[in-house]
Amino acid sequence: MIINGTKIAKAIAEDIKEKILKCKNRPNLSVILVGNNPASLIYIRMKEKACERVGIDFKVQHFNEEEKEGTILNEIDKLNQDDRVNGILVQMPLPKQISNKKVIERIDPEKDVDGFHPINVGKMLIGDDSGFLSCTPLGIKTLLIKSNIKVESKHVVILGRSNIVGKPLAAILMQKKPHCNATVTVCHSYSKNLKEITRSADILVAAIGKPKFVTQDMVKDNTIVIDVGINYLKQTDGTTKILGDVDFENVSKIASQITPVPKGVGPMTVVSLLQNTYMSFKRKNEK
Ligand code: GUN
Repeated sequence: MIINGTKIAKAIAEDIKEKILKCKNRPNLSVILVGNNPASLIYIRMKEKACERVGIDFKVQHFNEEEKEGTILNEIDKLNQDDRVNGILVQMPLPKQISNKKVIERIDPEKDVDGFHPINVGKMLIGDDSGFLSCTPLGIKTLLIKSNIKVESKHVVILGRSNIVGKPLAAILMQKKPHCNATVTVCHSYSKNLKEITRSADILVAAIGKPKFVTQDMVKDNTIVIDVGINYLKQTDGTTKILGDVDFENVSKIASQITPVPKGVGPMTVVSLLQNTYMSFKRKNEK
């Protein structure tokens, strides 16, 4: 069965829209974009459209590739101090002259709807729900819940140890909490006997950024496969094709459930950003 991430995300967005309609003010998400990375431009456009649909004010400030680090940090300070701003997002990757670490740590943790600030990462790890979960892991958790996939006592194998997917997803799914309690294995470029490990998975998550890395022989029958990869591949005819990390055509024949690319995890990441922004807005109004 193919899991329809777009459909699940739409239903959640509809719910957020209804809630915002009942509010006096609208939540605000402020975005900083530096340079013209083609994937970033696509992501920003998707986030903007999603915000518009649910009634979140979306403000983007677009700086050129050569912009100084100081300008970006000053801009973050202004957004931190602006009471109208509920969420701040600095689109990654940043050009070389700007430190990711300085940028992430400058954002007020209470407005860090990406969940990248060390305070929010720490809260996630210790199971403190007062922070923000980063959007892709949160989207995957929601996708599993909405698809009635239980992770409790299951062996979840995650391929990839990035700070934005692999590590936080492992931390979330191992919590002693409802919809968690999984046994989690994280594999990476130094892991040995990969096939043996992936074949022992009840749920296999691919988040490595290599097109069609997961082949049919790496997956046992009836496994649930979650594909986080978004790989842009230029075709000979000049068009661009988006491929996941999983060889969908073959793996889908044996998986019990599988997410496609596109229309799988991607829309869940975007809707999680809406959820985090709405949550930040609500928390502020309830203070
Ligand atoms: N670049 C790729 N994914 C993300 C994301 O989730 N947040 C930000 N800020 N930048 C990204």
